[in-house]
Amino acid sequence: MAQYTMNKSLAKTPMVPVPATLERVVVETGAADIKSFYLKLRRGSSWDYLPGQFAELSLYGYGECPIGIASSPSEGEELLFTVFNTGGRVTRALHRLGPGAPVGLRGPLGNSWPLDEMRGKNVVVIGGGFAFTTQRSLVKYVLANREDFGNLTVVYGARSPGALLYKPELAEWGKSPELTLHLTVDRGDEGWSGVEGFVPTIVEQVKPSRENAIAVICGPPIMIKFTLPVMDKLGWQPDQIYTSLEMRMKCGVGMCGRCNIGPKYVCVDGPVFSFAELSKLPQEY
Ligand SMILES: Cc1cc2nc3c(=O)[nH]c(=O)nc-3n(C[C@H](O)[C@H](O)[C@H](O)COP(=O)(O)OP(=O)(O)OC[C@H]3O[C@@H](n4cnc5c(N)ncnc54)[C@H](O)[C@@H]3O)c2cc1C
Ligand code: FES
Repeated sequence: MAQYTMNKSLAKTPMVPVPATLERVVVETGAADIKSFYLKLRRGSSWDYLPGQFAELSLYGYGECPIGIASSPSEGEELLFTVFNTGGRVTRALHRLGPGAPVGLRGPLGNSWPLDEMRGKNVVVIGGGFAFTTQRSLVKYVLANREDFGNLTVVYGARSPGALLYKPELAEWGKSPELTLHLTVDRGDEGWSGVEGFVPTIVEQVKPSRENAIAVICGPPIMIKFTLPVMDKLGWQPDQIYTSLEMRMKCGVGMCGRCNIGPKYVCVDGPVFSFAELSKLPQEY
């Protein structure tokens, strides 16, 4: 049986980037501004990480930035990072790279999805847009440790069919008896025969039960804002719902003070927080 822990950074040397090599790149979205980067650590090293953690990804001469780990430890040594090209220094330079390129990685950093809490319970994953990355890690992890969790329900939405990440995998999940997948897009196209509608509306229709369950919600703030009242209406309590914050990080290890919300450092106390925890913090996120 797998061991879970909502631990802080598992990195042995969190300030030292480990050399990694870019193995392959997959264009995720039609507009090619989101790509998946598959990396392997050099010198035969591997990482001990958990779904929900992140890394500081660095490019020599450009700098570094925090990126969630989209792969699951159950998938082997290859680490997956799915990155939106903001036009900023690091993400733009990363998007120009091809296989064989050197990349630095600090991590794994931060806490994880609450795997201890989820064990033996039903898991509900609600994702919107490209914030689905670490939720993918969680879904893969649950599927690889299926006997440790109850039902797995995934509601995932994007603006358009082309904007959905991990399309080949979504097709597999759609057919799998191991999870229930509800895909939606704001607006379909001629090739889309699936559901149209915003994520909160679909959640309202799906009505995930709160009994013996934990939910993780990730997506644009507007999606979260409208999904929370739906969960409330369905009886979910703030301590049953978790999210991951993406904000103002620099060092990733609690040294620079850039990411703090009240007494909490998002980089070491998070990025995963329950909505019960967040409700006690100043509304700066
Ligand atoms: C814990 C954590 C996990 C993250 N995971 C991912 C991930 O899996 N995939 C991913 O693509 N990004 C992720 N991000 C966001 C990512 O860190 C930023 O997009 C990145 O720092 C931009 O770096 P840059 O050097 O390219 O751009 P910068 O030069 O830092 O910024 C360039 C432009 O991008 C904008 N920008 C900066 N941060 C963000 C942001 N968070 N969202 C949107 N625009 C932003 C800036 O306002 C600016 O206009 C994560 C952030 C955190 C804190
Ligand atoms: S990013 Fe530096 S303290 Fe959190």
